[in-house]
Amino acid sequence: MKILLTGATGKLGTKVAESLLKTVPASELAVSVRDPEKASDLAARGVEVRKGDFDRPETLTTAFAGIDRLLIISADGDNETRIRQHTNAVAAAKQAQVRFIAYTSLGNADKSSLFLAPVHRSTEEAIKKTGIPYSFLRNNWYLENELGSIQGVLKGAPWVTAAGYGKVGWALQQDYAEAAAAVLSGSGHENTIYELSGKPITQEELAAALGNALGREVPVQQVDDATYADIMRGAGVPDFVVPVLVDIQKAIRTGALEIESNDFEKLLGRPVTSINDAVAQIVRELSKA
Ligand SMILES: NC(=O)c1ccc[n+]([C@@H]2O[C@H](COP(=O)([O-])OP(=O)(O)OC[C@H]3O[C@@H](n4cnc5c(N)ncnc54)[C@H](OP(=O)(O)O)[C@@H]3O)[C@@H](O)[C@H]2O)c1
Repeated sequence: MKILLTGATGKLGTKVAESLLKTVPASELAVSVRDPEKASDLAARGVEVRKGDFDRPETLTTAFAGIDRLLIISADGDNETRIRQHTNAVAAAKQAQVRFIAYTSLGNADKSSLFLAPVHRSTEEAIKKTGIPYSFLRNNWYLENELGSIQGVLKGAPWVTAAGYGKVGWALQQDYAEAAAAVLSGSGHENTIYELSGKPITQEELAAALGNALGREVPVQQVDDATYADIMRGAGVPDFVVPVLVDIQKAIRTGALEIESNDFEKLLGRPVTSINDAVAQIVRELSKA
């Protein structure tokens, strides 16, 4: 059996590769990356490193050749670019006669109001159309998305949010990575959709978890969208990113990431890392850096 993952030199992909290497021999693992130099560590450990770029479809059919189980890690960029890139990856998987496709999607991708949902809807549909057995890993929110806010609090700022009391199923990338590795190396995951969500909590509850880790109260400043945009600009967020952040706050406020599911536990075979432990881990890492 040969497993291949894309995006293996990214933050999530690195963790998926490490998780897989705990249970799968390196000879059964391959990665498709844009820059093989960046994967030299994996190559040194016996993982086959192939070159594949979603923007160059001709590279992908070769990269996916002879692969049984493929993980497509969603790329970054604007919606139009990502839809084109993912469509290329799915077409190449079909051409290479891959036997199983897992894809890192978005929580409630089929009905989500988040601006980035069309990317995941369209990729899921393209995968289904191939007829290849699939597993959609509908990842809720990475706790790592909040690194900027956590760093702000470490420097004395309050927890600023326009998300009101909307809940989010935050979890560590490590947990998402281990769940993906379980699907890739396990059996019985054909034609499945996993809603991978931590226990949904509010911004206030997240700030309280941060307060626990820091041993002090973290004040929460609930603001409206315009004020949130001003604060983000003031914190140095580039102008083109600000509306994206505001849109995310809006979507959270209206419940787009409030997803209850025990799929994580099913795949991990253990409870998802608690928010207190997860936040404490991030604070420890930030303090070391
Ligand atoms: N659910 C959430 O909260 C959340 C939050 C942020 C992101 N995401 C999604 O999760 C993905 C993984 O997150 P991450 O933190 O690991 O992001 P990341 O570190 O930026 O990794 C993105 C990966 O996509 C690869 N990639 C980009 N363009 C590509 C192309 N044209 N062809 C092939 N590969 C390409 C990158 O390759 P290189 O290594 O060569 O750069 C990188 O490995 C993101 O790309 C995004 O789609 C989800």
